Parts: sequence; structure tokens; C-alpha cells
Amino acid sequence: MPKIIGIVSGKGGTGKTVSSINIALALHQFGEEVVVVDADTTASSLGLHLGFYTFPNKLQDVLNDEIDINRAIYMHHTGLKLVPSSIDLDSLSADVSNLRLSLNKLEGTVIVDAPPGLDKDSRAVLDACDEIIVITNPEIPTVANAVKVARMAADMKKNILGVVITRMKNAPWELRPEEVEMMCEVPVIGIVPEDWNVNKSIFDKVPVVAQSPYSQAAIEYKKLAARLIGKTYEPPKYMGLKKLLRMI
Ligand SMILES: Nc1ncnc2c1ncn2[C@@H]1O[C@H](COP(=O)(O)OP(=O)(O)OP(=O)(O)O)[C@@H](O)[C@H]1O
Ligand SMILES: [Mg+2]
Repeated sequence: MPKIIGIVSGKGGTGKTVSSINIALALHQFGEEVVVVDADTTASSLGLHLGFYTFPNKLQDVLNDEIDINRAIYMHHTGLKLVPSSIDLDSLSADVSNLRLSLNKLEGTVIVDAPPGLDKDSRAVLDACDEIIVITNPEIPTVANAVKVARMAADMKKNILGVVITRMKNAPWELRPEEVEMMCEVPVIGIVPEDWNVNKSIFDKVPVVAQSPYSQAAIEYKKLAARLIGKTYEPPKYMGLKKLLRMI
């Protein structure tokens, strides 16, 4: 049976898709068998982050029982395997309540990019996962919604691996990781800073872990992925100097 990890958030735009892609690619680079699935069927964007705009097979076809999920797996040139969702309006007709049955046919680790919020579809996607990572930004309204989704996951008896704070700027108005932990009652397992390399990587359609492997965001995603498989990732020593000398 695959290990199914849902990447969820209470509020939209927190960094779920960026996190799903980069956690999945970092796991792949550590030698894990992994596939990332775009389960945000109404506002899908995972394919767009990776340059997949049109593709014959998509998650909607799988959910409509037209094809087996293994026929909807594509490979990015970095080696990352993905199951994209349609970006067409017809995608609204997909029913995610039977998602788990399809995910069970995959192998290794399945990273599920979930839709935001607490509505019926988000709940159904969360229910299709065994383990949950909650993505939040360090602002109060976002954390307040992360609290709700963490509670929902706990009520559903899911194994909550932790909270990941993304787009951290260390600004005075941001909540500190300890405060996020206290509010969510879940440990913070990753802190990804605001990093323009992420924006550039989306523009270039290459995950930041591959495009700028020693950027702050990439390093944090690699540390997080290592942690998920019980390893530790140590960035190279004297990285600043090596970058300056163009050695890495
Ligand atoms: N570490 C980061 N540094 C800078 N910008 C970031 C970072 N992470 C995410 N972003 C920006 O935030 C935007 C939203 O990220 P993303 O699409 O991953 O969020 P999401 O939670 O999947 O959104 P949605 O709920 O709409 O699916 C990205 O387009 C990117 O511009
Ligand atoms: Mg998204």
C-alpha cells in the first residue's frame, strides 16, 4: 500500500502546491519512489507549475472511472512523477469522494496537493490521506484557518505530521513558530522563508529544489523531506563563499 501524505491548508494561496512539488522532488532525489497528485480539481495549478498545460489523461478521467490512475502519470524532466488535474471548466464535474481507491493503486509515497479550506471536497481529499502536513503562512488569519484544518484532521483520526510555515519574512507582524505551534497544537516541522527563487522557479516551470538547489527555500524543503524519511539533510559547508566563487 502507498504512503499517502496530504498537503493541506485552511486558507488558499499558502504554498501547498509549491510545497507538494518540492517535497516530492526532494524525496525523489533521496531515492524514494514518489508521485505527486493534483487533487485540487476545481482550481488546479500543479501542472502549470511544471509546464504541463495540455495532457490527454488527467485525474478527472481517473475519478470518472475512465482510466486507471497509472495511465495519468507524467514525468517532469527532473524525474518528478505527477498526476495532473485538468485546468478546463469541465473539471468541476469530478467527484473526489472515491479518490482513495485510485490513490491505493499507486506505489511508494504519494504526495497529495489538496484544495484549500474546509468544504466538502477539501474534507474528502483529506479523508483520502493517512498523513497530513498543514501549510500556513505566519500571519494571524492564515494560522487561524490552519488551526481549523488541523482540528478537522485530528477529528478524522489522521496522523498530523506537523505544520510547515512558508513565506516567512521574519517581519515584526508575523507570528513566531512557537506561537503557531501553540495555536495549532501541532509541531512546526519546517520553516520556508520568502525566497524570490521560488517565484523564478514557477516562471521557469522547474521546482526550486532542482533549479536553485542551494537557495534557502530549496534547502528547507530538502531538510523537511529528509525529516519525513528519518534522515537529516546538511547543506554544504561555507555555502555563501562557494556560491560567490561559483563552485555550487
Ligand atoms: N517560499 C516562497 N517564497 C516566495 N514566494 C512563494 C513561496 N512559496 C509560495 N510562494 C508564492 O505564493 C504563491 C502561492 O503558492 P501556491 O500556489 O503553492 O499556494 P497554494 O496554497 O497551492 O494556493 P491555492 O490554495 O490557490 O492552491 C506562489 O505562486 C508563489 O508566487
Ligand atoms: Mg495550489
